[in-house]
Amino acid sequence: MTEKAILEYDGKKFEFPLVRGSENEVAFDVKTLRAATGGLTTIDPGFKNTGSCLSDITFLNGEKGILRYRGYSIEELAEKADFLEVAYLLIFGDLPNTDQLEKFHADIRKQSVVDDDIKKIIDAFPKSAHPMGVLSSLTSALTAFNPSSVNVNSDEAMYNAIVKILGKFPVLVAWSMRKKQGLPLDYGSSKLGYVENVLKMMFNQPNEDYVQNDIIVNALDKLLILHADHEQNCSTSTVRIVGSSHAGLFASLSAGISALWGPLHGGANQAVLEMLQAIKEDGGDTKKYMAKAKDKNDPFRLMGFGHRVYKNFDPRAKIIKVAADEVLSDLGVNDPILDIAKGLEQEALNDPYFVERKLYPNVDFYSGIIYQAMGIPVEMFTVMFALGRLPGWIAQWKEMRFRKEPIGRPRQIYTGENLRAFVEIEKR
Ligand code: ACO
Repeated sequence: MTEKAILEYDGKKFEFPLVRGSENEVAFDVKTLRAATGGLTTIDPGFKNTGSCLSDITFLNGEKGILRYRGYSIEELAEKADFLEVAYLLIFGDLPNTDQLEKFHADIRKQSVVDDDIKKIIDAFPKSAHPMGVLSSLTSALTAFNPSSVNVNSDEAMYNAIVKILGKFPVLVAWSMRKKQGLPLDYGSSKLGYVENVLKMMFNQPNEDYVQNDIIVNALDKLLILHADHEQNCSTSTVRIVGSSHAGLFASLSAGISALWGPLHGGANQAVLEMLQAIKEDGGDTKKYMAKAKDKNDPFRLMGFGHRVYKNFDPRAKIIKVAADEVLSDLGVNDPILDIAKGLEQEALNDPYFVERKLYPNVDFYSGIIYQAMGIPVEMFTVMFALGRLPGWIAQWKEMRFRKEPIGRPRQIYTGENLRAFVEIEKR
């Protein structure tokens, strides 16, 4: 098989080597394009055809609906691993043994307190603030409280920054919700598992003993695993590109949280539930909303449908759909929204518009239904996504820094005005 690609331009031929991944994905290596061609560049809005890096972390095949972290299938991890094991796997490359996992958890626990002055920052936000904005700001603020975690140039400094953020982030997640609800801020308990502690910090009432619900713990654990990494998506690319300027880990994560917030990305889980709610309140007429989604003059999109990479099915959505059924029945919740979701999915799967464009339910189509059944407020859905994605962002940032990747700086083709003479203000 040929291992080069030839580009013909202006009567000359230019050769570019191919790069082959471990799953036989092939790319043209255009690193030398500008130098060889005297300044030609490529245009690829939305980076639909551009590989920004080589990565050992996550493999996904959108045509076959495959998702693997470090070689392990998402189906097997969701069934057999817990979230902290998956975090370790993503960040360090292999599943931990018992001692490694215990040490990892103990190191995280030691870092599970944030500077009490963070409370003053939270107090300055209005209660109406969206928790994603609060979370992004607080994550960035952690830089100021932990300056030693900014410039990580050794394995030890990197490890310390990683356990710090894994310890402190759940506190910020929980506080961003409690602030909105006017509840006193809570530090949880170092006796609990990672996911159990997140739930306690979120839901503990000041006048009641907190009782853990295993169904909810297991459901959240699974959801977090399914969201833990997804190679070079919008927020992860943001984290990598911000980090490529050698900005610190926490500042890069804060930028990733902002990228995740948008409804075309992580914000879709909130948008899906709001959409399903609106359909229910409008009499449950799914056909009306299908027609709106297909109408090119209507900006409405079927939220939770479609994916840049998955063009067959999203394997995470498959797992979540089954989990939604189980969790609702285990919790004894009868939510008509689940029926609306299933009805919409069925219609879309049989509709030529969706079939031709390969639009399938994505990870967020059913996740909001589970979050709602767990008692998590709608505005917190994307925050829960961020909590799940944290290990993936960390792993990708670490890989980028240790591979000494160059600063991310795309090119453009300028389409504006040519040189023109300045016109004095009175003559304009
Ligand atoms: N509803 C209706 N039509 C859609 C939808 C949708 N949800 N998604 C895509 N389309 C249509 C587009 O209008 C376009 O049609 P056209 O070819 O006639 O112009 C075609 O399908 C291709 O869509 P693009 O927007 O070009 O696809 P892209 O890969 O850029 O976008 C995206 C992917 C952003 C996920 C898109 O499908 C979408 O907006 N979905 C809804 C939001 C959503 O669920 N986001 C979560 C994604 S998963 C995640 O981030 C965790």
